[in-house]
Amino acid sequence: MTRRVGSRRIADFGETVFATYTRLATEHKAINLGQGFPDFETPSFVLDALRASAGEHQQYPPLPGLPELLEAVSEDHARRFGRTLDPVANIQITVGATEGLFAAIQALVDPGDEVVIFEPFYDAYPADVTMAGGIPKFVPLHPQSDGLWHLDEAELRACFSPKTKLVILNTPHNPSGKLFSAEELDLIVELAERHDSLILSDEVYEHIAFGQHLPLASRPGAWARTLTISSIGKTFSVTGWKVGWVSGPAPLIQAIRMAHQWIPFTVATPLQRASAAILNEAAQPGNPYYRELKQAYLRKRDLLVTALRETPFSPLVPAGGYFVIADSRELGYRDDIELCNDLPARAGVVAIPPSAFYSREHKTLARHLVRFAYCKRDEALIEAGNRLRALAG
Ligand SMILES: Cc1ncc(COP(=O)(O)O)c(C=O)c1O
Repeated sequence: MTRRVGSRRIADFGETVFATYTRLATEHKAINLGQGFPDFETPSFVLDALRASAGEHQQYPPLPGLPELLEAVSEDHARRFGRTLDPVANIQITVGATEGLFAAIQALVDPGDEVVIFEPFYDAYPADVTMAGGIPKFVPLHPQSDGLWHLDEAELRACFSPKTKLVILNTPHNPSGKLFSAEELDLIVELAERHDSLILSDEVYEHIAFGQHLPLASRPGAWARTLTISSIGKTFSVTGWKVGWVSGPAPLIQAIRMAHQWIPFTVATPLQRASAAILNEAAQPGNPYYRELKQAYLRKRDLLVTALRETPFSPLVPAGGYFVIADSRELGYRDDIELCNDLPARAGVVAIPPSAFYSREHKTLARHLVRFAYCKRDEALIEAGNRLRALAG
């Protein structure tokens, strides 16, 4: 065949960094603090809900989503944010947050539109924007020694133009663990208003926040131009379920639905049913689930951060999410890829090079950084700490 096989829109895509480092973890039998998925047991009420759901209706659910899940998401919103969402007009169930992002970007972005993306980014954002023909405009977040990541107002302002159709935000943020402050969110809303742009707020780590998580859609003036994405995966430690939802004003949800109907059409019925059951159960008065989830992650974060402080790595303390970013300059590697390629053989631990989450022009900002996941069993975190401590000798 002489014709080029891949389309132009995928021409620049390489293998994801997770495939590369999962392979290295297997090869070296290393502790894998690479990809962000829990390696501990799924809560038993979650598995019970899945089993109970298996025996019921198995056919296509309605396009917006299974009514009981739409209802559960709507009630969750009312309880936590005091906003009443119409289950059908204001919510779309998607195949995880991943498909919600893809459908939203397909639905909102025309070729040539500019999309503001914060760096480091969740790596689906620029890929989704590129596939829609949009132009990503990158704004770096700057790590400070106190673990906070600074958003420079002038840099953000300079990124907006009359062509800015969309801003993609992620709070709590992967991989920095940053919780955007009220002032930062209000600035984003102000700039979006001024340029008549829309906002896509990815809040999949909303329940893993050690400070106050502020939902962007609740900021003054935000609701009419904001779509919020969340999913079941992180909150209930079932990243393989891929059940998510997008919420927002009816015209924006209708636009997403028009794209979603030609992507998966609908989302697995038994998983939607189980998702509704666990959301309802976790919301029962007196159920400590969300509090205990946060406490468990706080303990894991502290375990890893404390261990890293006794190694050549200097951890930046995250305020939420699954990851710790650390400064690796003391080890003297040329860049983060060289370090992460060497670490499995040298220390028996796999980490991810954060330059994978930066645009080509800003990759050097990550040269001295490394990302460790702490959504892992305590024993794995302790053993990784012991192994990394040996690097100091
Ligand atoms: C910031 C962010 N958004 C979206 C996703 C994908 O979520 P889901 O598994 O629900 O598709 C992830 C998963 O790692 C993530 O970190």
